[in-house]
Amino acid sequence: MKTPRECFGGRMAVIMAFAGSAIGLGNIWRFPYLLGENGGAAFILIYVAFTLLLSLPIFLAESVIGRSSQANCRAAVGFLVPGKAGHLFGLLMVVTPLWILSYYSVVGGWSLDYFLQAVQLRFIRATPEMISGGFARFIASPWVPVACHLAFLGVSVGVVVSGVKGGIERFCKWSIPTLFILIVLIAVYSLSLPGAMKGVEYLVKPDFSKVTAHTFIDALGQSFFSLSLGTGIIITYSSYIKKSENLVAAGVGTALSDLFFAILAGFAIIPAVFSAGIAPGTGPTLLFDTLPYIFSHLGQSAPVLSAVAAIIFFAAIFLAALTSSISLLEVGVTYLTEEKGMKRGWACALLFAVCAVAGTLCCFSTSVFDFADSAASNVLMVLGSLLSVILAGWVMPRQALFRELTNGGALRGNARIFTVMRILIRYVAPVGILVLVLSSVL
Ligand code: ALA
Repeated sequence: MKTPRECFGGRMAVIMAFAGSAIGLGNIWRFPYLLGENGGAAFILIYVAFTLLLSLPIFLAESVIGRSSQANCRAAVGFLVPGKAGHLFGLLMVVTPLWILSYYSVVGGWSLDYFLQAVQLRFIRATPEMISGGFARFIASPWVPVACHLAFLGVSVGVVVSGVKGGIERFCKWSIPTLFILIVLIAVYSLSLPGAMKGVEYLVKPDFSKVTAHTFIDALGQSFFSLSLGTGIIITYSSYIKKSENLVAAGVGTALSDLFFAILAGFAIIPAVFSAGIAPGTGPTLLFDTLPYIFSHLGQSAPVLSAVAAIIFFAAIFLAALTSSISLLEVGVTYLTEEKGMKRGWACALLFAVCAVAGTLCCFSTSVFDFADSAASNVLMVLGSLLSVILAGWVMPRQALFRELTNGGALRGNARIFTVMRILIRYVAPVGILVLVLSSVL
């Protein structure tokens, strides 16, 4: 007899799992450096607006596709678009998260290495001058990054192999609250540093003179990345949600916790950057170059506090990366177990091998890494998101969309705003995605 499909335990479990997928390197790494490059508070405002108006409807579209199908991504898309086209679209949703995981786990590996360096007090023992340029030296000899990448991937597999309830749900239930505590601790430390108030001002006083067309593209792209849109994750996780749960509440809860965490990460990092007298727009090296420099700089006068802050900081990055990487892995595992009849353990082993090889290539070549990242953010995730809103908004019958978003009309509040949600899914989201694509191309 076929074993019944696993389900998440309840609303809290669903929100924790979704938040785990959303909260990750996107919040702690990408968001702070993007806001540093795009005028601080002005970027936050645009980012919040995009998340609520565009990303949330896409999230709901993907949730509806997932829960109505109660199946893996390939099958879920196949139910709506029969034939070869549906098969290919579905496979795209399975390949995208694995593609992302290949380079994401490389960055996860960096965070593991930096956490170990923090535990060994390397940033505190060295002078800021010695720390400077350390990241370039670290990735210049790829074998350590490869080992860390494999270790990070191994831990992710260790969680996913235990299943939806025993692995993912159990892990997210303790790791997400822990992450919030860690990031609050770092924010308190960062705000207590001399000169931190300049950073706070940067985060609360919008400077619209720094806003360009690029700011909008960055904000929307970041919002997609952070909510894991177009990656098949929302479809897969939603297929584990019980029919009695409120999809809209889960979506809103996830978007708000993701926004809140990103803003907290901004308050944890930017005031410290200002306190060290560094300009906030240092770009992608902010986390692995600028922050160790800051910890070392602060360690000259307060070594114990700086050492503890560095350990907590890199532990938080490692944990956040892990909660997202398990969701990236689960999409492929669900596909292999349901469509190819593989045991969960074998599916995990196979995907570990694939991502291990692809990630190793990324460690050896920054061009491969950059290509993987830009193809995922600019092409694969955008295509996946567009496909989802077209499927939920245009292909799925209106009654089916109504049934999923309102639990057959039982959720009166959702039923009242159904028309608005449908307009957002059917018109606003696809137009927003097309504008993003056109502006990026132009
Ligand atoms: N949503 C994940 C992150 O932000 C991929 O890191």
